[in-house]
Parts: sequence; C-alpha cells; structure tokens
Amino acid sequence: MVARSIHSPYRPSENEIRRRVEELGPWFHNLNLGGVMTAPTHFLGDYPNVKWRGFEHVVPESLEGKTVLDIGCNAGFYAMEMKRRGADRVVPIDSDPRYLEQARFAAAVEGLDIQFEQLSVYEVGSLNERFDLVIFMGVLYHLRHPLLALDLIRDNVARDLLLFQTMQRGSPEIEPIEWDYDFWQADHFDAPGYPKLHFIEARYSGDVTNWWVPNRACSEAMLRSSGFDIVEHPEPEVYLCRCVDLPQPPDGPRAVYPVRGDDA
Ligand SMILES: C[S@@+](CC[C@H](N)C(=O)[O-])C[C@H]1O[C@@H](n2cnc3c(N)ncnc32)[C@H](O)[C@@H]1O
Repeated sequence: MVARSIHSPYRPSENEIRRRVEELGPWFHNLNLGGVMTAPTHFLGDYPNVKWRGFEHVVPESLEGKTVLDIGCNAGFYAMEMKRRGADRVVPIDSDPRYLEQARFAAAVEGLDIQFEQLSVYEVGSLNERFDLVIFMGVLYHLRHPLLALDLIRDNVARDLLLFQTMQRGSPEIEPIEWDYDFWQADHFDAPGYPKLHFIEARYSGDVTNWWVPNRACSEAMLRSSGFDIVEHPEPEVYLCRCVDLPQPPDGPRAVYPVRGDDA
C-alpha cells in the first residue's frame, strides 16, 4: 500500500523502488521508475516502449476533455501515457490483482492520480459509462470468448475510438470476402487470407492463457463484425477504429448475443 497526501508527495529512494519492484515482480511492462527498470530482460525487448513508438502518432496528441478506458491495463503503461496526454479521466481495469498492485505502485512513483480497478472485460457493462477512447491491447488472444468481449465493449463502453492490438499468426494476406457462398463452395476456407481464428488447446509460448490467435483477415473481420470501422493500421498488430452502427436485419444482428430483453 502506498500512502500519499498533497503535503507529502510519495518520493521513495532508488533503493526503496528497487526493493518494491522486486517484491511485486515478475513484471510484463518494462517501466522506468526513478531509474529502476521493472522488466529489463523482457523477451520482447524494452516492452511496451518499442511497440508504442510504432503507433503513438495515431493517438490524439492531446486528450484534454476526453475520457479513456484501458482494458487489461497490466502495470499501467498505456494508462499513464494517456494521462500524460492530458486525458480528463483514465479508468484502467485488469482482472489480475498482481498487475494492478504493480500499476498502483508505478503511478504513485510517477505522481499520477489514476484509480486502477479489478474488473474483467466481460464485466465492462457494470461501469455504466461510455468512453471517448477505449484501449483493448494484448487481451483478445487471452480470452476464451473473444468475440463476446468485442461485442460487450461496443455495446457498453465504446463511444468513439477503439485502440486495438492482438497477437496474429498465419497469413497477412486478405482474401476478398463475398457476401454469401453456395453450400457446395468450400475452397475459400483454405485460402491463406480467409479469416481464421486458431484455437490453442494447451499452451502457446508456455502460456496457458493464450486461447485464440487470429490471422490478419480474422482480426479485421471480427472488428468490423462487432461494429468497429478500421481507420488506421499503423503497424501489423495495431488498429485504430471508430464505432459505427451494427448491421440490422436481415444482415444482422449477431446470432447469439445479446439474447435478453428488448434485444432478443
Ligand atoms: C499481454 S498483457 C497486455 C497488457 C497491455 N494491455 C499491453 O498491451 O501491454 C494482457 C493483460 O490482459 C489482462 N487480462 C487477461 N484477461 C483479462 C480479462 N478477462 N479482463 C481484463 N483483463 C484481462 C492480463 O491480466 C494482462 O494484464
């Protein structure tokens, strides 16, 4: 627990930071906290700094007057960047309390007033609020129900922009999709650029929480199908999207969700 007040800002020594960083590890985000790096041997390098440099230009430079929801915030790298860009309010959530402890410590060391909440993406409806920018980076492939998560985000919390990233495997090609296919026509399923979501029953990269990995065509199709129009694709895994209306019958709505109340 980090105690702070306006009269005594939290200014731990480098030794204190180092000790706490070790206690809270292992870290996924490599943050520079007062000269102490939290994940200096990360297998992806200086992550997510290296990633962020490849797409930061598509995020509005000033977020003044805007609200941001960061789903799967981990140790808070993107939440803190959004706060530095002047967002009025940043709400970072994650399902894992260990990462939230890291995030709270990091924000305290950085002197940023951010409230981190333990919440799953499947529970975003309980926030009862829409946000100007929703960040959903690096979470989709950790979910058993990825399309449900995208639907819930679109239906409950997204108002304008979605910043999305997923691990992708398979072909980067895009096969042109026809609106319908004859029952006996099946060749297109084997085309490299047809949307494919690869199911991981056991582990991938030693991680039991990797469940579904899309190819590029599938990432883009899932986003479209959930009501997100892709407006920027600054690097292979990252998309900036804008909310659009969902297709209505007979071309929609989605078959399974939602199934209750007025939407049934
Ligand atoms: C690979 S990390 C990505 C972290 C960060 N968004 C980024 O892009 O660097 C995945 C994060 O998603 C979180 N996560 C996994 N399942 C989740 C869920 N159902 N709801 C919210 N967060 C989840 C994990 O705890 C972890 O912090």
